[in-house]
Amino acid sequence: MTSVSLHQGEASIKVGVITVSDKGSRGERVDLCIEEIRKLLPQIGGRLAEYTIIPDEEPVIIDILRSYADQKHLDLIITSGGTGLSPRDVTPDATKKVIEKEIPGMAEAMRLESLKKTPFAMLSRGIAGTRGVSLIINLPGSPRGVRENLTTLIPVISHALDKLHGDPAECGSL
Ligand code: MTE
Repeated sequence: MTSVSLHQGEASIKVGVITVSDKGSRGERVDLCIEEIRKLLPQIGGRLAEYTIIPDEEPVIIDILRSYADQKHLDLIITSGGTGLSPRDVTPDATKKVIEKEIPGMAEAMRLESLKKTPFAMLSRGIAGTRGVSLIINLPGSPRGVRENLTTLIPVISHALDKLHGDPAECGSL
């Protein structure tokens, strides 16, 4: 039996975007990253179901990640920002406390591809993982970082969600 994607070809993937930015949450900075994500959503069959801007506060990030996963049951939760080294950057640390399974390969792939574009890619500590039926991915907080990192993951997101949602098909035919 061939593997049939449950998601391909339709905007059925419910996506939540969390922009993590102190300045953005105070209205002092326009969030340009959401537009980058919006532009790429058609390529993964995604539709924006939830979007919020929150400060770089670990408890706030944890609460919203839990709510998007446990109450809203979003398929894909993308965070943008707070992955670096500044004292207020805590998005990966919060994400680590929320996920049930880490997916190191997704973060490795993002950094590997990004390093071809900028050496600063090694400064992003972003991770990826799952909680319930939700796939959670940390992206950097610049529009370019969002575009380059998310583009790397596009080919695997649909299959990752199929597997997360219990698709029993063999992967050998892919
Ligand atoms: N990855 C890609 N592909 N492109 C980028 O421009 N910016 C880097 C890195 N990853 C970047 C990138 C920079 S400059 C930083 S400091 C880190 O992501 C962390 O960014 P953040 O703190 O906004 O999350």
